Amino acid sequence: MTHHGLAARIASLRSEIRTEPEMSALDRLAVALYDSRTDLLKTFIHAGNGPNPLDHAAAPLSSLPSLQALAQTGGSRTVNDLEAIARTGHDYAARLVSFGYRSSHTIPILGRSGLHGFLFFNATTPEFFSPSVLRRLKPYAELVAQMVLRELDALRAMRGMVRVLLQIAAVRDGETGAHLARMARYSRLIGLKLAPRHGLSDEFIEYLFQFAPAHDVGKIAVPDHILLKPGPLTHEEFVLMQHHVERGIEIVDLAVGDHGFISDVHLQMLRQIIACHHEKLDGTGYPRGLSGTDIPLEARIVAVADVFDALTSRRPYKDAWSNEAALATLAAEAEQNKLDPECVAALAASMREILQIQACFTETVLG
Ligand SMILES: [Fe+2]
Ligand SMILES: [Fe+2]
Repeated sequence: MTHHGLAARIASLRSEIRTEPEMSALDRLAVALYDSRTDLLKTFIHAGNGPNPLDHAAAPLSSLPSLQALAQTGGSRTVNDLEAIARTGHDYAARLVSFGYRSSHTIPILGRSGLHGFLFFNATTPEFFSPSVLRRLKPYAELVAQMVLRELDALRAMRGMVRVLLQIAAVRDGETGAHLARMARYSRLIGLKLAPRHGLSDEFIEYLFQFAPAHDVGKIAVPDHILLKPGPLTHEEFVLMQHHVERGIEIVDLAVGDHGFISDVHLQMLRQIIACHHEKLDGTGYPRGLSGTDIPLEARIVAVADVFDALTSRRPYKDAWSNEAALATLAAEAEQNKLDPECVAALAASMREILQIQACFTETVLG
């Protein structure tokens, strides 16, 4: 049986609710996720008839006092007239109104460890969320909250496993937790920049961010004398090193494959990241020598993020390069049809965010 992703399951639930009497004006169901480490509330899932009015948005929860209050009290909030709120200069309300929404109902998603996000219902008519409608929506809202919490639990468990494996590998080859924390965030930056042109959803970008640090999980299978060798590798050693790609896929299949742990689409994305992060656009990469867009976009993104962080961090055998020097090298690699030029340009256009990430995750801070 196909294990669908959370977005697909929430979309079917939305269709189901709308078939009920008087529920057809309920058009939008959306989920935002809260990252307590950075206080960021990020848009995550949108199920609705039209495009997402709040695509690729992120804001500190502290800048959203009404949502912050819901998180503290656990209560819900109904806005019966979004137009009136929009007129007071509220940006999110204005965007919802411009997409045809007239009322909203918001519920915090609270788990054992506190706030995990928010669930938003939007209707195309004002005053939609009457007490009787809210009574009927309550079980659905509870169900969506449980689905989101379960998904986050599964992701956390998966990441925990990958992290344990990586920490063992990282200790051995000098790559640090901070490297993984940074390259995951660089991947997210590139994904956000590419999103409009490639139609990437917030869900895609979130999983890209979650899975990027697993790219080298197969390094745990590379023998120490190769992984830790200070000088250049011989041809035979390089061949053995390259095996970390296939070993990585084996490890992921053993650890998370087929257990229904993560959905099929997401498992596929995780495998692509591991399988293709050393492929080059001109076909000279490994292990399969794929070229151009045969290399999945998620892998092209992760490759750029990974190389950029490798260049800009200090390793036992080299100093850290400046961001400018690293970006120049990436641009040259893109020129030679090795790295994806669009991904390189996206990263180069995100200097402000790069500096924030580097300030937040220095070598002593573990991801
Ligand atoms: Fe690798
Ligand atoms: Fe890496």
